[in-house]
Amino acid sequence: MRAVLQAISEELARLKAEGEQVVPVSEEALAGLRALVRVRAEAADPAVAEDVSSRPASPTSRSAPSAVSAGFAERKDFAPRAPAPAAAPALKLSPAAPAAAALPPPPVVSLPAGDKAARWAALRDMAVNHPVCLANVRPGKKAVLGVGSLDAKIFFVGEAPGAEEEVQGEPFVGPAGQLLTKMIGGMGLKREQVYIGNIMCWRPQMPTPPGAEQIGNRPPTPEEMTFCLPFLRASIEIIQPDLLVALGGTAAQGLLGEKFTTLGAARSRWHDFAGKPLMVTYHPSYLLRNGSNKSKRMVWEDLLQVMEKAGLPISEKQRGYFLGA
Ligand code: URA
Repeated sequence: MRAVLQAISEELARLKAEGEQVVPVSEEALAGLRALVRVRAEAADPAVAEDVSSRPASPTSRSAPSAVSAGFAERKDFAPRAPAPAAAPALKLSPAAPAAAALPPPPVVSLPAGDKAARWAALRDMAVNHPVCLANVRPGKKAVLGVGSLDAKIFFVGEAPGAEEEVQGEPFVGPAGQLLTKMIGGMGLKREQVYIGNIMCWRPQMPTPPGAEQIGNRPPTPEEMTFCLPFLRASIEIIQPDLLVALGGTAAQGLLGEKFTTLGAARSRWHDFAGKPLMVTYHPSYLLRNGSNKSKRMVWEDLLQVMEKAGLPISEKQRGYFLGA
């Protein structure tokens, strides 16, 4: 039961990160979640360690689909979320993420002279070896800066490295990353032609028994995002993309700060970050959970705007992606 509740808790954290404020939850799940919160607060409870260690080693692959289907297209293996029973009460998502360790003021990043490659290499070195980043990654895992073309016109900004990313040291290599790569393909580009970064350089940690793998992900706190933001700003300064695309509510919040209210309100229109046009859309992991054509179309319409602004050619076929039931 606790594993189920853990999965619900992760899903709620993810939904909140995507801007959802209220979700329907059954009375039973609500009671279980309250119990889980109590148990989590008692971090030293040996029963937690016992239960957590009996779970599968790779939580992300447990909760995500086993394969990402072709062309940002049909995902028949991944049905849309079932509607909740009408009688379910609404659970207000708490605005506060679990407290992370206190952080020092954000770093002041000063880039060396040189060409883009030299400046980016220096920045990457600075970020992944920063003592605070190192202090926030588990032993054997990596901090992550970004990947892609230093001449990219389009710069995607995600939330934070997940389980696969902190192993490989590259953003968006897990299931959500594979879907992002297909979305980029749908735009007529290769992954190597864009730049992909994250608000966070490290995977936000959750209470995990010593030696065990972290189960699931939590959204970063505002303090964590503020700390890492200078590395993202410096990446933008080096790459000088034409535009930015924030993937999901957390990335949008990290970039827009107080101007961000909900993903629904922020998406599909142009904002500004660091003097660059910024489009906000859903995170690919949202589409992995909700693969309806309606959801895909919403994201696709945002990406069509991105393509137009970036001056990319758009075929009639591309314009019509995901229309219809
Ligand atoms: N999700 C993100 O937001 N970033 C990653 O790098 C991977 C998954």
